[in-house]
Amino acid sequence: MRERILRDVGSYYEQAFPPREFIPGETPVPVSGRVFDADDLRHLVDASLDFWLTSGRFAEKFERDLARFLDVREAILCNSGSSANLLALSALTSPKLDRRLIPGDEVITVAAGFPTTVNPILQNGLVPVFLDVELGTYNVDAAHLESAIGPRTRAIMIAHTLGNPFDLGAVTEVAKRRGLWLIEDNSDALSSTYRGKFTGTFGDLASVSFYPAHHITMGEGGCVLTAQPRLRVLVESFRDWGRDCWCAPGFANTCGKRFDWQLGELPHGYDHKYIYSHIGYNLKLTDMQAAVGVSQLKKLPAFAEARRRNWQTLYDGLRQFEEFLILPRPTPESDPAWFGFALTVREHGPFQRDALIRHLEEKKIGTRLLFGGNLLRQPAYQNIPHRVAGDLHNSDIIMTNTFWVGVYPGLTAEMLAYMTQSFADFFRQFQA
Ligand SMILES: Cc1ncc(COP(=O)(O)O)c(C=O)c1O
Repeated sequence: MRERILRDVGSYYEQAFPPREFIPGETPVPVSGRVFDADDLRHLVDASLDFWLTSGRFAEKFERDLARFLDVREAILCNSGSSANLLALSALTSPKLDRRLIPGDEVITVAAGFPTTVNPILQNGLVPVFLDVELGTYNVDAAHLESAIGPRTRAIMIAHTLGNPFDLGAVTEVAKRRGLWLIEDNSDALSSTYRGKFTGTFGDLASVSFYPAHHITMGEGGCVLTAQPRLRVLVESFRDWGRDCWCAPGFANTCGKRFDWQLGELPHGYDHKYIYSHIGYNLKLTDMQAAVGVSQLKKLPAFAEARRRNWQTLYDGLRQFEEFLILPRPTPESDPAWFGFALTVREHGPFQRDALIRHLEEKKIGTRLLFGGNLLRQPAYQNIPHRVAGDLHNSDIIMTNTFWVGVYPGLTAEMLAYMTQSFADFFRQFQA
């Protein structure tokens, strides 16, 4: 019966999600979106029919497949990229680590970032040290990294902005030499490479997001990556209520001494399943989400190629407008699997960013700002403890002049040509 149901899902997919005709000016051209096929739908239904609900066989398979794909030892699934960031940083506060982070310690990050790259720093009682980024790459200028380090600085936590790897050579060198933990927020960069190696495999820990905007999707979902098994245990503990036990859901006595532990002030033999070594959360995901991830992962190389191709098409089309726009550029020695196509309207030009955005949105072309701009200007961050290293000049420019448009695999050649044409229509009024 299961086989019949899964066969029917294929026909349902054909009927429910037929290809849509593109009508310029009417059909939306989004910045991102889920791209899925009958196989993804089949995996989702297959997992539902198990009715296991919590993390199970698909989650295990996904963790194995992703780790193999990236050539990283450990992949630990959770329910979002934000949770992955929270787990990665929280793990470093564990009393089980010699170099644990303690409240008041500093973590270097950037001001023009995504909020949940920074929030775990604050949520753990740590102090963010904000650096500026470059225009064009939107990544930290690694030359300034060293000067941001103070006596309490213990870690670096930054993202590969819009899929563009930050200078991993310089950042890992500084982190190693100065004894700092490194967390790569790899949410926007799954399958980007630096010197031929996947991003997310350089730091002590890295995070990935599987929200529909990202390179592959589970709807909601995220993952922590690490080469260090001792960190895997800590991440899992924080993810699973803070427990000391590492049994998978539905299993017991994986350690072989479930009733023989003596930890804290508990009586000897207290059930290991109910011993808590961390102040944890529950950030697990369901097996239905993981099942979609399993089939999406097979498409990741093709998705990444499409993102690179679409980015290049837009670049070739928009190059002619460099007098108005700062175009994006890949960082040296990297091959980004682009998340978006970032543009900065040149200062003192004949128009403001908002006029261009309004024009594009009227043409049904989706636009997004570069996240929160200078986060320190956001209402939530007005009174946070923090330090600024240098100035945040470019972060302020990003707040007023930068935006991005899509390169995701759902965009067709027609849509990309329409995007370029729509930019051209706008610029015509300023050209002699
Ligand atoms: C750099 C970065 N980090 C973290 C996240 C959070 O991921 P999620 O939406 O899965 O929580 C995002 C979301 O887009 C992101 O762009």
